[in-house]
Amino acid sequence: MAQYTRVSGSVGLITLQNPPVNALSAAVRQGIVNTVQRALSEPEVKSVVICGQKGAFCGGADIKEFGTNMSGPPLVPMIHAIESAVKPVVAAIEGVALGGGLELALGCHYRIAHSKARLGLPEVTLGLLPAAGGTQRLPRLIGVPAALDLITTGRHVTATEALQLGIVDQITDHNTVDVAVKFALSVAGQSLDSRRISSYPCPRHSDFDALFEAAMQKVHQSARGAIAPVACVQAVRAAATLPYSQGMEREKELMATLFTSGQARALQYCFFAQRAVGRWSMSSGARWDTSKPRPVHKAAVIGLGTMGRGIAVALAQAGLSVVAVETQEKQLIEAKQAVTGMLERGAKRRGVTPALDKITYSPNIQNVADVDLIIEAVFEDMALKEKVFKQLSAVCKPGTFLCTNTSGLDINRLASQTCNPELVVGMHFFAPAHVMKLLEVVYGPRSSPHAVATAMHLGKKIGKVSVAVGNCRGFVGNRMLKPYLEQALFLLEEGATPEQVDQALEEFGFAMGVFRMSDLSGLDVGWRVRKADGLVTSDATTGQQARIRQGHRYSPLGDLLCEQGRFGQKTGRGWYQYDKPGSRVAKPDPWLQNFLEEYRARHGLVVRRIDHQEVLERCLYSLINEGFRILEDGIAAGPEDIDVIYMFGYSWPRHRGGPMFYASMVGLARVLERLEYYHQAHPDVPSLHPSTLLRKLVANGSPPIHKWREVIKKLHSQL
Ligand code: NAI
Repeated sequence: MAQYTRVSGSVGLITLQNPPVNALSAAVRQGIVNTVQRALSEPEVKSVVICGQKGAFCGGADIKEFGTNMSGPPLVPMIHAIESAVKPVVAAIEGVALGGGLELALGCHYRIAHSKARLGLPEVTLGLLPAAGGTQRLPRLIGVPAALDLITTGRHVTATEALQLGIVDQITDHNTVDVAVKFALSVAGQSLDSRRISSYPCPRHSDFDALFEAAMQKVHQSARGAIAPVACVQAVRAAATLPYSQGMEREKELMATLFTSGQARALQYCFFAQRAVGRWSMSSGARWDTSKPRPVHKAAVIGLGTMGRGIAVALAQAGLSVVAVETQEKQLIEAKQAVTGMLERGAKRRGVTPALDKITYSPNIQNVADVDLIIEAVFEDMALKEKVFKQLSAVCKPGTFLCTNTSGLDINRLASQTCNPELVVGMHFFAPAHVMKLLEVVYGPRSSPHAVATAMHLGKKIGKVSVAVGNCRGFVGNRMLKPYLEQALFLLEEGATPEQVDQALEEFGFAMGVFRMSDLSGLDVGWRVRKADGLVTSDATTGQQARIRQGHRYSPLGDLLCEQGRFGQKTGRGWYQYDKPGSRVAKPDPWLQNFLEEYRARHGLVVRRIDHQEVLERCLYSLINEGFRILEDGIAAGPEDIDVIYMFGYSWPRHRGGPMFYASMVGLARVLERLEYYHQAHPDVPSLHPSTLLRKLVANGSPPIHKWREVIKKLHSQL
């Protein structure tokens, strides 16, 4: 709702009231309509100020109303009525003016912002566009290039940038409402002809065609199949080329297409899923709201290789004191230089002082005795990690949490090396650790709720999206990746090429297909793990048996490449060839083509034509199938957890909503049918065998994704 008061004798003050960010719910919109009418009709009132209660102007539309039959007054005529008012209306912007909130402010005749306010039109991130005149007013106010940037990226700007761009007229460090009221008094009675943005001509540009073509190319490249950024460019083009009223029509049409698209649904699901993962629960029943985190002021990182360096940077940047331990002297010196560089570059970008003094470097593990939490990031070697955990347990003060960054080793085995296994959890970061947003917090059977709460809380503090998951080989992300990678290899055996598989996945929306991604991460990493698992054999047998391991179908293609020293980008050869080691430009390699032909001939494999649909279905449905098994096993509490992990850690295209949401959009019956089909064609491939949960969900009429937890609960109670 909106509260109306008269202040300073002649100013009507309208205060939006809908905590926490005064979103434009039906009640708030109705409140604005009523109070604006009242202010305009009272003869004593000469000018109006609109503000939001409790330091936030307005966070935009109420997302909870999306997908419902929206009641209450629509935004467009409401904002139009404000703009057409004959009394000056001033927006007093504190906290945030986002989405519909900024559109409301753009309908006002003046905008005054607090210096700490943030403004933006983030609709594109929800698969939509600013459809209350935002795409038509903003370019008229600040010009097409700047408006395109804000509308197509959804980025927020500070009040200072908003002033430079011309979005606001004034910024203040004082009480914004007081300043706005004073200002409103000063402009009472003045002509508003030059203050109505919709009447402005759009600032001309020397070559609109070239400008919009470049903008379109840019969004096509970065959007990877998302349609909202494209619609945003089209809407701004309408502002630049059509009269305001026609531009508004175009904005409305484009919005209607977006609103009913699956992409908007997917992106809105992501928005809620990201919040849902904060309300974590463990299979024991312990939960986020009943488990208290312990304070962490000082932390340690053990092992300063690729991951340890990034983790130390992330911790120091968040203000924690860090002891960074590395036993190799040369590595320690190199790590210190690298970490210093990372901190300096990060600080420069953010305009702050680098947190260099937050980190102390040491070759000695004894120096971690007084820290609150330790993150171990030594080589992925169980024996080494066990030794390190034993040492840490002996050295640390009582109550220190011991965390491991292992990519998939057994947390429980590490916990059993310590005197207090309840203090052990996994904190699985993703490379580069100071950049990637995802953190898997892995609890073992003995991890205490306090340990999970502390790791989740620390994750949040250092800016990560943290997801609590159970302990199993590969946890959630890497466990699901395994069948995806395996299917890609089987497809090569059956006749596909790396380029063809990657193209299908990149057209789907991944930043990189599976083979380009493997070349980037290094093929030797998985090879080492497979060797340790006894999957790599040296006997050059041919025929069916050579492709069976531990009773299941296995493709040794990756191992054979590694035996040739082809480790990917770092060696200049992998699934692709590169100009030189370390180069990033992947080119098809005739050597690989010959190698695949010889391999298929040796094993009597008959090549067949494989189309994009088969690539997508085999790779994605096998990954999704594993996701259902993870839910079945209780390793992830719900589908949102899996989807958030895939979006933030594995570059799953957000506009497709994560693998589990994608399955629900495709239709569970369809996913099941295709898995059954491929399973019959390849009965020895384990990951194609449809999971019990998928079958159960289909048998239950394929309930919507938010109802899956109930089916899972029932399934667990039957076990
Ligand atoms: P790395 O090989 O780059 O670094 C490991 C570092 O640990 C080396 O500098 C080594 O000298 C040091 N080290 C070995 N023993 C030590 C000890 N006793 N005390 C102190 N330092 C010791 O390895 P990377 O890639 O950083 O991986 C570390 C851990 O992170 C592994 O468990 C890995 O599975 C995991 N991980 C790796 C990811 C990646 O993309 N590289 C992603 C996520 C997790």
